[in-house]
Amino acid sequence: MDFELKTLAPAQAPQLTCDALLVLVPDARAAAAAPDALSRLVAQATKAGDLEPGVAKLLACYRPEGFKAARVTLVRAGDGSAAAVRKAVAAGLSTLRQPGIQRLGLVLSLLDAGDAAVRAAVQATADATYTFTTTKPSAKARALREVVLGVSQQSTVRKGFETGKAVVAGVEFAKEWANRPANHATPTLLAEAARKLGRHARIKTEVLGPRQVEALGMGSFLAVARGSAEPLRFIVMQYAGAAKSSAPVVLVGKGITFDTGGISIKPAAEMDEMKFDMGGAASVLGTFAALAELQPAINVVGLIPSCENMPDGQAVKPGDVVTSMSGQTIEILNTDAEGRLILCDALTYAARFKPRSVVDIATLTGACVIALGGVRSGLFSPRDELAQALQQAGEASHDLCWRMPLDDEYAEGLKSNFADMGNVAGRAGGAITAAKFLQKFATDLPWAHLDIAGTAWKSGAAKGSTGRPVPLLVQYLLDQAAVDATSPAKTKKAASPRVRKA
Ligand code: BES
Ligand code: MN
Ligand code: ZN
Repeated sequence: MDFELKTLAPAQAPQLTCDALLVLVPDARAAAAAPDALSRLVAQATKAGDLEPGVAKLLACYRPEGFKAARVTLVRAGDGSAAAVRKAVAAGLSTLRQPGIQRLGLVLSLLDAGDAAVRAAVQATADATYTFTTTKPSAKARALREVVLGVSQQSTVRKGFETGKAVVAGVEFAKEWANRPANHATPTLLAEAARKLGRHARIKTEVLGPRQVEALGMGSFLAVARGSAEPLRFIVMQYAGAAKSSAPVVLVGKGITFDTGGISIKPAAEMDEMKFDMGGAASVLGTFAALAELQPAINVVGLIPSCENMPDGQAVKPGDVVTSMSGQTIEILNTDAEGRLILCDALTYAARFKPRSVVDIATLTGACVIALGGVRSGLFSPRDELAQALQQAGEASHDLCWRMPLDDEYAEGLKSNFADMGNVAGRAGGAITAAKFLQKFATDLPWAHLDIAGTAWKSGAAKGSTGRPVPLLVQYLLDQAAVDATSPAKTKKAASPRVRKA
């Protein structure tokens, strides 16, 4: 799907050649009595009470007078804010998804649309028309080929437009991989996808296998992978957009391509959804896909520990004690708390990049789904500045998160008589105790953790990946690049470049 940005006065909109025209009408636009066909239509519809004010109120017209497009849908966009635009576009497109609609005109010129609104329109258009076809060739693929965004002055919103397109590329990359069933998205296949991303300018991908991971001493990660016939992969990606001396942001994505629970096996109901347990990994890959398009001036490292969590004669057993790369020992009391076991070694590995920040992204706990549902991801960080930056990036990109506590008392339950720690505490505060476990491996790092168990995918009839939190991560990285641009001295205190050896 191609997006095009065009300066288009309201009076010109009816002349646009396309299969359908979706016109966003702000509440303020009541009955402007201009002589063009669009203004006339809006004025008449408003007067007749057929286009009530509000958000997402619709009026679908067929061959209205003076328009080149056969289908013209008017949709109310309230105050014209990005949030309203998102809802209006989603509602409008629900009437325009026929196979005959390949070229769409999306008219924002009646609004005072800024970067955020344009970006929201691009993302909402992609979201509303996404279809997964990889393992369902009979599915109706997205019919939409071209979307022409008409705005009052294209030069002023070019940036929002470009960001929106890159975020769409990232979100759709993440959706594709997260939606693939586990037999079509093994650790090896995930690593191949990462390698392909490595062909883009400034991106480098390196993939480690079981022997190298063993040589690194990642005993915790290895323990999770033991029960599976699929070999583990540790994916290391680097995007070099700034000087070598500029400390990178490290993103760590949980890449469990299927989580049966292992010997602590999960119940059968809805176990299929555990193919989405690599949603964190998918979001890291998607973020790199967006970086490939945007090429911002920042360094980013992506780390993805990836394996299956399976029960087997070789599988790790409850009570087994393993030694993590950090040297700390772990009593694996529940093999279903495997995400933290692969992430902890990746966090230890992250330290070698002397990062400005480390953000791990994981479908980590069912408890987080209970706490925050599917609206906001759980955000955990002992660093206020980092937490605020991530929370703000979430608000700005409409990919929300909410900060959760990390009081040390929550770590009490992780004590073990047989190791430095257990991998689970009690049922209470499960999302927090999981974060406390991770924190033990990030002691010297500016670290944050995003629990996306509730936000990475939808269940039920709309089952599928959301591509979250790619919008949040891309926004955070762009914000960091902007901070550097205004105060370049800040990056200088970063670590001297260090060559990473595998
Ligand atoms: N991948 C799951 C978390 C999960 C469960 C995400 C349901 C989304 C929906 C994770 O590996 C897991 O199994 N966590 C356990 C931890 C428990 C054993 C302490 C959980 O949440 O039940
Ligand atoms: Mn699990
Ligand atoms: Zn899991």
